[in-house]
Amino acid sequence: MGGKLEELKRLEAEVSGCRKCGLWKSRTRAVFGSGSLQPRLMLVGEAPGSQEDREGLPFVGAAGRLLTSLLLSAGLRREEVYITNVVKCRPPGNRTPLPEETEACRPYLEGQVRILEPGLVVALGRVAASVLLGRPVVVAREHGRRTGCRFAGRSFSLFLTYHPAAGLYSGGNRSSLEEDFRKLGRLLRARPRTPSCPLSPPS
Ligand code: URA
Ligand code: SF4
Repeated sequence: MGGKLEELKRLEAEVSGCRKCGLWKSRTRAVFGSGSLQPRLMLVGEAPGSQEDREGLPFVGAAGRLLTSLLLSAGLRREEVYITNVVKCRPPGNRTPLPEETEACRPYLEGQVRILEPGLVVALGRVAASVLLGRPVVVAREHGRRTGCRFAGRSFSLFLTYHPAAGLYSGGNRSSLEEDFRKLGRLLRARPRTPSCPLSPPS
């Protein structure tokens, strides 16, 4: 456990001084990620926004408040999960990160996945889903589903949903997000059906 903390701290120190892509020039603080060292799941967003850039913490603005309530609806407290983003520095004007920026930053996300070894990862939006799956993703077509994912040499389940910011501006996306997180909650509550308890009822 101490090992994980040290490894994460070392990676975070590297990120705080990173200049591997142009986004370092406009950042106030890099946003590494935060949460449990033994997370029930890992959430991956797109990039820090302005409040995140000022505080150095992920999802602390309006989208973050929505995320906190969505997590609660799935029976999760923020302290139980680990939250990070595809790129660790804020793109100017909150534009979508460029492919060369997500590529340059990918080793940090890979490091976080290797250190934390999550069994379940939630991709928040297209950018996270595409980077994790290594292919273009249309969230409207694939959200609310769990799929197998191999990333950073690890295998885990990936649950796809919209980016919480999308839920702030569109009622339709908001209902989809709410429905997806209720599904996520059911998925977490579902007992793994193991041979040792063959009579457990299907959930
Ligand atoms: N949007 C993101 O994708 N990440 C944050 O940390 C905040 C807003
Ligand atoms: Fe480095 Fe990532 Fe920041 Fe680019 S976004 S400077 S790769 S930490």
